[in-house]
Amino acid sequence: MNRVYIKTYGCQMNERDSEAVGAMLRRRGYSLVDHESDADVVLLNTCSVRDQAEQKAIGKTGYLAKRKRTDPGFILGIMGCMAQNRGEELADRLPDLDLLVGTQKFHAVPDHLDNILETQKGLGPQPITIVDLDAEEGSQNTIREHLADKRQVSAFVSIMQGCNMNCAFCIVPKTRGQERARPIGAIVNEIEELADGGTKEVTLLGQIVNSYGRREIPIREGKSPFVQLLERVQDIKGIERIRFTSPHPRGFRQDLIEAYRDLSKLCEYVHLPAQSGSTRMLKLMNRPYSRERYLEIVDSLRNAVPDMYFSTDIIVGFPGEKERDFEETVDLFRTVAYDMAFVFKYSIRSGTPAATMEDQVPQRLKEERNQRLLRLLEKSSLVRNESLVGTTQEILIEGKAKRGNLYRGKTRGFRTCLVPATERLIGELVPVCIHRGTASALYGDIVLGGVDTVEPLLPQTL
Ligand code: 5AD
Repeated sequence: MNRVYIKTYGCQMNERDSEAVGAMLRRRGYSLVDHESDADVVLLNTCSVRDQAEQKAIGKTGYLAKRKRTDPGFILGIMGCMAQNRGEELADRLPDLDLLVGTQKFHAVPDHLDNILETQKGLGPQPITIVDLDAEEGSQNTIREHLADKRQVSAFVSIMQGCNMNCAFCIVPKTRGQERARPIGAIVNEIEELADGGTKEVTLLGQIVNSYGRREIPIREGKSPFVQLLERVQDIKGIERIRFTSPHPRGFRQDLIEAYRDLSKLCEYVHLPAQSGSTRMLKLMNRPYSRERYLEIVDSLRNAVPDMYFSTDIIVGFPGEKERDFEETVDLFRTVAYDMAFVFKYSIRSGTPAATMEDQVPQRLKEERNQRLLRLLEKSSLVRNESLVGTTQEILIEGKAKRGNLYRGKTRGFRTCLVPATERLIGELVPVCIHRGTASALYGDIVLGGVDTVEPLLPQTL
């Protein structure tokens, strides 16, 4: 009765939360399984950022609820953002649900499951849906456990929770609450433990990572708390690569740009959400920067680190987006030549300011704009990968590729690379000579010797 399957929707933060819940459950004597059909307990860790993500989880819940009717011992729970966003309503709509846990209560899941099991054995009160959605002081410090018996070559580390920005489209401030930072010491301890277990790469996670600790930790020598944290992580033995996601263009200051120049472990890759290339749209979105300021950050980063890789989030079809606004986003794509991007069709999130704005954009236009950006992205991604053919790149081997006998890993610039390797090399940094590049992957062979310094790829006109 204690086999648990956790299904995760949405962002890396959700993946990290699921992993921590899994680790806590294991310690409590539960076992984690890879398929829902093998599980006595299914927990869905949900996302609310777009309607599609919520619908997927609701569909899944309906499907799993049927199993409850023939198998009354089966336990079904919803955790995370959708639980937080639509909690009570879900409890009413889905009476088969055993558990609803919000984003500040992940650490309470083991207790709740224990209680539900007791109830089922007839030891506790009558079965009801346990709903636990309250805010909890200090909950940002509860996500710190990793699956200790599994070596994580690359690990996510949550450094803060919540978001104080008020982007007109976004539900996250409602689902994740106000910004709360973890102390630097606690984060460093967690990463040291990971390094002891063989982790080589960490990705620091937060809704707006570069505003980390801005209320709790003073600026020192012109350095923001986030840059102070990066410097501490740089000094951790065994960690070879540092990444983070996601920063906000606001507050992306000179100290962070210099950190890219000065910290050898900070990989030359940044995911910098633009949302739109039109200053007019950014204003409507309540994003406090202009197109020019965004491009200034991109330029400063390229000046500090010529071989920088860029990724972004874009929303197409935000209310009021006209053809000329969209053309500015197309132009931004051409100017920055993104290596990667997530393009989202605007999705109405009830309770956010944009939900009731006039001039909602028809679905067909959103679709067209989405496709246009994706085509541009494919081109720029291919140009980048082809430019790497013939160079030698440092690859961190992460595991076996899905198909064939190849292993998969990443360059420092976050390009996926497939290479013939051996099990023994998982978790190692190896020099790989690239012999082929497609839009989605690089292919190469491990070589003896060092890696190349690559000539900077200048943004090209696509
Ligand atoms: N519709 C579409 N995309 C959205 N995002 C956030 N809210 C919405 C919405 N209502 C996107 C933003 C954000 C990413 C995580 O999700 O681009 O950066």
